[in-house]
Amino acid sequence: MSGNSTKFVPINLPHMSHLKPISIAIRIFFLLILPIISLFAQSEVNYSESAVPAFVLPDPLIDPKTSTKIKSVEFWESTQRKVLLQSFAREMYGTFPDQNLEVDFILNSNQQVFDNTAVRKEVTINIKGQGKEKDITLLVYLPNAKSNVPVFLGLNFYGNHTIHDDPGITIHRSWVPNNEAFEISNNRASEKNRGVRSNRWPVEYLLEQGYGLATIYYGEIDPDFDDNFENGIHALLDQTTDKRTLSSISAWAWALSQALTYLQQDPDIAADQVAVIGHSRLGKAALWAGASDSRFAMVISNDSGCGGAALSRRRFGETVNRINHSFPHWFCEAFDRYNNEENLLPFDQHTLLSLIARRPLYVASAVDDQWADPRGEFLAASYASPAYRLYNYNGLNDAEMPDVDRPLLSDQVAYHIRSGGHDITLYDWQQFVHFANQHFGKK
Ligand code: GCU
Repeated sequence: MSGNSTKFVPINLPHMSHLKPISIAIRIFFLLILPIISLFAQSEVNYSESAVPAFVLPDPLIDPKTSTKIKSVEFWESTQRKVLLQSFAREMYGTFPDQNLEVDFILNSNQQVFDNTAVRKEVTINIKGQGKEKDITLLVYLPNAKSNVPVFLGLNFYGNHTIHDDPGITIHRSWVPNNEAFEISNNRASEKNRGVRSNRWPVEYLLEQGYGLATIYYGEIDPDFDDNFENGIHALLDQTTDKRTLSSISAWAWALSQALTYLQQDPDIAADQVAVIGHSRLGKAALWAGASDSRFAMVISNDSGCGGAALSRRRFGETVNRINHSFPHWFCEAFDRYNNEENLLPFDQHTLLSLIARRPLYVASAVDDQWADPRGEFLAASYASPAYRLYNYNGLNDAEMPDVDRPLLSDQVAYHIRSGGHDITLYDWQQFVHFANQHFGKK
């Protein structure tokens, strides 16, 4: 990673012996203390609106070849969208790990659950490449009372068995971060963690509302640590090609697309009503999946922050420089070029959201999650409006950022800022269901 090259001026204190104490103090201040103060200032997190730098956002609707405004859906879809997607892959998220991978689906179980009101399916997604193979498990709940079920699909942080205390959910054997509160030790999942994250996954509520839920443990796809892309599905790729074009976010997003391929084949599911959803880093993955795979009928970002829905140029809360240093494996190496140089980015996150047009998009923030820059998330959603207008929708248009707990729903784009912190709560899900009801033709 290319860091900051801060130069230090050598200080030779003995040469100062002829100076008066006051000028020594001034020299020490300029030569020693000031550089230290400015180093601290650089590493301080900005939470002040008045310290947001002035910036100009690139316009996704300007054709770079002719510098003219794109006015037709045809040109946008046939040319510009593709150029922008390639640019995101090259400069930020990395390429998709799909070269020469073979994917098969095996329905392992299909059982009645919750007093016969729902069915639980477990599907093995088998991936082969370079003579090796890997299985990941897609867990699906569907309400019994319906056919043609719309589904929310999202990745989970600790394992499928953590989303509900249903004893029939298989416990994965992949690496998982230790967590004392969840009784996870030795990086292994176990019976003790069953249901520990059920607060984030209101399975029964979704089933009652007529929705299915599908999820994969993200660590089964690619473990979330910097392993130089040797584990997870990256191990099935030809590693002689440039590794640094790979990234974990692209691996997670790629797996979401594979899951979608299965869901679209499942006769109980409405193939054209699968919403991709994600919280936090998994919200970044959901956005990248939703932008690059237009089969997703709806895209939902919850507290996705920097590298997700938040505008990078605002430098509010987490910045590009920070995220690249803390999580070097999330993005491709090229993204390091933009550390403290956000203005050089050929796009910003409103461009990513524009790539989701004309499909319904929901961006959610939380007021105490300033690290994720709620205002930057709102503005990106708002600045995606011109792309929605190409399709004769308004998007958020020039609406003001709404008050806390007052969702703002336009024709295709919605936004809310919830009270509370970095989390995905029942309140968030209720808003997503309400929005999905509008688009998936329910009451
Ligand atoms: C860290 C990281 C964020 C990320 C979050 C999460 O806070 O800095 O970018 O969204 O973890 O995934 O919970």
